Amino acid sequence: MKRIHFEEIDSTNTYLKKEYQNLDNLTFVTADFQSSGHGRNTREWHANKGENILMSYLIKDRNIVEHFSYVSMFSAVLITKYLESKGLDNVSIKWPNDVYVNGKKIAGILLEGAYPNYLIVGIGLNLNQSKFENKELRHPATSLKLEKNNLDFNVKEEIEEIVSLFNDLWADFKGDWLMYDDFIKEHNYLLKKRIILIDGSRIIIGIVEDIDSQCSLLINIDKEIVKIDSGEIVEIL
Ligand code: BTN
Repeated sequence: MKRIHFEEIDSTNTYLKKEYQNLDNLTFVTADFQSSGHGRNTREWHANKGENILMSYLIKDRNIVEHFSYVSMFSAVLITKYLESKGLDNVSIKWPNDVYVNGKKIAGILLEGAYPNYLIVGIGLNLNQSKFENKELRHPATSLKLEKNNLDFNVKEEIEEIVSLFNDLWADFKGDWLMYDDFIKEHNYLLKKRIILIDGSRIIIGIVEDIDSQCSLLINIDKEIVKIDSGEIVEIL
């Protein structure tokens, strides 16, 4: 597995997008700071220099690029398991790919790609940051430090832990897309919550019943279960 680190870059996702043709499958890129970090739906992703984990990995294996929703859930499982290994016990996955601790967002995942050529998974995980002033943040944020009584973490060491966990999990995951099914169901932040979801021009209001084995959200809308493959949760009622 190839690793590239930048002190500063526009965005680790953008770097991989520009360079994917010259890079190997499973290249990992990390940075201390991003000048144009971005999140889903054209939002910006701000992270203080050297305080957080900013990483992206590249997938060029066509069979895996095709299964991007599994890759997205896999990445959320990876971060959830990492945080649980740090002793946090109220970690959950907010479909489609945020990680929450005690009801606050600690990590966001952004998938970008062009089938069949490549898929980029960008992960922003708040480690030592303790103030979040960005007005674009619609949900309260937290960090590992805030959840661990102000304990400071060594960013480089934590990246090594995540990459090593990635290697362990990835080896299994490739063979069995369904192996984290139960884990995902048990860590479903939205379970039984009433939500508003926007998918293109569709607005959906209903109660979340489950995440199925295709990583779709199952929503109860007036007693009918509707399967949702993509969209943005805009409100939890
Ligand atoms: C979101 O919650 O909207 C997703 C945030 C993803 C942020 C990460 S940080 C590393 C990578 N580079 C980027 O520009 N974005 C992702």
